[in-house]
This record gives sequence, C-alpha cells and structure tokens, in this order.
Amino acid sequence: MKCQRCGSEPFERFRGGMYCRECFAVKYEGAVESAVRRYRMIGENERVLAAVSGGKDSVAMLSVLEKLKKRFRFEFSSLFIDLGIGDYTRNSKRIVEDICKKLDIELHVVRLCDYGFTIDDVSGKTCSVCGNVKRYIMNRFARENGFDSVATGHCAEDILSNFLKNLYSGNIQWSEKQRPRLDGYDRMVTKIRPLYEMGERENILYVLSRGLPFVEDECPHAPSTIWKEMVYDIERRIPGFKISVLRNLARERREDSAEYRYCRICGEITSSDICQFCRNVARFSRNQ
Ligand code: AMP
Ligand code: FES
Ligand code: ZN
Repeated sequence: MKCQRCGSEPFERFRGGMYCRECFAVKYEGAVESAVRRYRMIGENERVLAAVSGGKDSVAMLSVLEKLKKRFRFEFSSLFIDLGIGDYTRNSKRIVEDICKKLDIELHVVRLCDYGFTIDDVSGKTCSVCGNVKRYIMNRFARENGFDSVATGHCAEDILSNFLKNLYSGNIQWSEKQRPRLDGYDRMVTKIRPLYEMGERENILYVLSRGLPFVEDECPHAPSTIWKEMVYDIERRIPGFKISVLRNLARERREDSAEYRYCRICGEITSSDICQFCRNVARFSRNQ
C-alpha cells in the first residue's frame, strides 16, 4: 500500500488513511489546527508560553505550535521546569535544549531547587506535589514575564483518564479545569491544551515523522497507568467514546462561583490561608 496522498512509501495510518512520513505529519498538523480553531484556543497576537517536559506529547505540541504561529499570528516561547529528579531531569533538560535549538524557539528554565527543595526530597504523594509545583511555577512564571497563556501537552488519554479518576473520587468538578481553553482571571493565566483531541500514539508517530528527539524514559515516580488502560479498553468496546466524551466535556460550562483568596506568604491565588505550594516549600525545604 502506498501513501494515499502522494503515492510515496507508506509510514503509518492516521484516522483511517495510510500516509508517508511527510503526509502523516501534514495530516496530524491539520487535525491540531482544526482543534485550535474549533475551541478558539489561541487569540491573535497572544503571547503563549509552551511548557515542555521533553516527553512525546509536549515535543509534538512544540513542533505544531511552531508550524501554526504564522497562520494564527501568535508569539511563543517555551519553559522547562527543572524538578531535580536525578538523571531523568538532566536527560530531559538536554533533550529540550536540543529541540529548542533545532526549532529556533526561545527556552526559559526555572529550577525548583531555587525554592529550597526538589522532587527527590519529597516523601509520599510525589506525583501530587509535583503536579502542584508545575502548575504553580507555570502560572507564576507566565504572569511575571508577560505571557497571556500557558500551553501544555495534555493529550486525549490524559484528559479522559483524569476525568474517570475525578468521577471515582467524587471530584468531578475538577474536570472543568481541563477544558481545551480555560480563560484566566485575576492572577491566574489562561491555560490552553492544543493536543486536546490527539491520542498519545498519534503524538509519538508525529514526533517520529518529524525526526525530533524526545525523552523515552518514564519518570521514576510515574503514577499507575490503570486509568489510561481503562480509557483504551472502553474505546475498544465503544469506538468513538474518546472524541464524544472530550467534546461533551468541552461544552460543559459551569459558573465559576468558587471563592478564592491570596496566599499569606507568596500572594498567589489559593482557597485557604496559605497556598499548597508554600505548604510544600515549608514541608520539604532543606533550608528549614
Ligand atoms: P504531566 O503533568 O507529566 O502529565 O505533563 C503534562 C504537561 O505538563 C506536559 O505535556 C508539559 O506540557 C507540562 N510539563 C510536564 N513536566 C514539565 C516540566 N518539567 N517542565 C515544563 N513543562 C512540563
Ligand atoms: Fe512529576 Fe514524575 S514528573 S513525579
Ligand atoms: Zn503561596
């Protein structure tokens, strides 16, 4: 079988058709572009900060944003957060630096150790502390440096597995925060997810089709994959489940009535007196 678009050597299937490397990449970029338009993810002249871990998803996002920036007329730079997870972080940082150099994208690096601790100092609940740290640093860095939005590489399976987890734990309202575009307010910067409708397998094939390097090792603290396996299982039984739930979730819009305050220590938005990030600093900092 040949590429159905140009007749060259086939590379992989994309949404029903067989394509060569170049045509696969073009079709993938077209699908991301459609989602960016569908959800009005990026406004004209917006300054976007792309958060890059070096994994397949965020590398795919970086490459597509680079292709789309002229058409949508936005500017963008990237951010890598050095979480201090031993060789995993050192390797990821090197790969992110290489990609940004190759694609000619400005890269900012924020080190968690400058706040007094690293993820390797955290005992128990590592992933939830890490999630809090990443959200805090992305938001604060973006705001303090004049960015309008933060883009992350969350893919379809990330959104859906989080949705199932939230449903299970009785925190369904948290899924509201995973919309393709979540407008900012007060000190919170807008969040966008350009790969909202893309599957992780599509992301990896795209990165390969464009010949970009990416971090292949898993974080040593990686959470269980059971929720993602459930998403794949449901999709196998009910084809079309993923896209249907994603589009329904994107339509869902509740009034944001939650009260918020400002952290007594750092001034960021929080639901209590001291924000979770400052609590983490107090708990894990080596300087205490
Ligand atoms: P995760 O929280 O690991 O599922 O990653 C979700 C998204 O957060 C990634 O696709 C990236 O956009 C962003 N991200 C994760 N880790 C980092 C990091 N160390 N530095 C910058 N962005 C990150
Ligand atoms: Fe945060 Fe693994 S990247 S715990
Ligand atoms: Zn705080």
